[in-house]
Amino acid sequence: MAMASVNVLCMNSRDRDTSYANNSSLQKNILLKTRPFLEDTIKDMLSKIFPGTCIKVADLGCASGPNTFFPAYEIMNTITRVCQQLRWESPELQVFLNDLPQNDFNTVFRSIPGFNARLKKDKGDLGGTCFIAGVPGSFYERLFPNKSMHFVHSSSSLHWLSKVPRGVENNKGNIYMSKSSSIDVFEAYSEQFRMDFSKFLRLRSEEMICGGRMLLSLVGRSITDPTSKDCCSVWDLLTKSLFDLVAKGLVQESDVDSFNLPWYNPCKEEVREIIKKEGSFNLNKMEVFEVNWDFEDNDYNKNYVFEKNKSGQNFAKIIRAATESMLNNHFGEIIINDLFTRYALHVGEHLSRERTKYTIIVVLMTMN
Ligand SMILES: C[S@@+](CC[C@H](N)C(=O)[O-])C[C@H]1O[C@@H](n2cnc3c(N)ncnc32)[C@H](O)[C@@H]1O
Repeated sequence: MAMASVNVLCMNSRDRDTSYANNSSLQKNILLKTRPFLEDTIKDMLSKIFPGTCIKVADLGCASGPNTFFPAYEIMNTITRVCQQLRWESPELQVFLNDLPQNDFNTVFRSIPGFNARLKKDKGDLGGTCFIAGVPGSFYERLFPNKSMHFVHSSSSLHWLSKVPRGVENNKGNIYMSKSSSIDVFEAYSEQFRMDFSKFLRLRSEEMICGGRMLLSLVGRSITDPTSKDCCSVWDLLTKSLFDLVAKGLVQESDVDSFNLPWYNPCKEEVREIIKKEGSFNLNKMEVFEVNWDFEDNDYNKNYVFEKNKSGQNFAKIIRAATESMLNNHFGEIIINDLFTRYALHVGEHLSRERTKYTIIVVLMTMN
């Protein structure tokens, strides 16, 4: 049976209206909210690192777009500020940008000289040198040599599973867990996340030095009940849009039945339990915050006024940039414009009834 495959998971790379680079403002809002965690972690890490050490950091699930260099810039920023205050020479930084091999690394690589020039301009001679490398591969596999990394960062990526779970073949009429899904479907998704996240922690523990830090943020859900609205609404509305196309004869119902997303949004209790059970990391901090579906509705935009169609389109573009490759592969390119036109309308209607938010789980850990 054909299923959504992570082999085709890829943020939209084409330089157009629908690319991830042009539609990642929601993920940018998440990065901005976690910036204080990043700064505190780097400051604390610096105080424990031997002067002269080259600091090795990795950003896992870096994509290709304006957010790709955000963590590296913020880390350099913090390092320069702290070293200036302490009158230390800034250490060298090696940043490994990781994503799946099908990510648009060509664009990432072409952006490196511009990024270095910006650092030089902003930090002058006070900033240390930043060496950037690309690491294509799945973060559910080994990526780095033993005991080599000081800091691992990942934002808006770990809710993607390594594969569609086994046992969801009968999830008819849904593309993810939904109120009408059977208990087996909920269990299969939760179990796949447990296996994937445990493996992720074990692999990183092999790659990180003792005392190394890890900062992760992922889309979760606010309550333990997996049928909760904040878990299912995003995909229920996409399912509804697919069924609009079934009604028009543009999509076959059996194709909707056989499509399931390799995605899971855990609750914080699940994340805490897995970290504890796996045992390699000490959980220093766990926080949950929310970001609005409409990225324009954020802390920095005080003049925001809700406009149903605009909000629907804003969120539809975010979801399209992240899922088009998989939908294309399963349903064919021809339906994509229609599908997301329908989706934008459904999202707009939904948001006019309730101001829906994404729940974000942030965890900060130290390697034992
Ligand atoms: C929504 S983007 C987030 C990008 C960026 N971190 C940001 O904050 O904008 C999620 C990224 O995770 C990547 N990803 C998903 N599963 C992955 C895996 N198993 N290994 C590496 N990257 C993965 C996707 O390809 C995608 O580029």
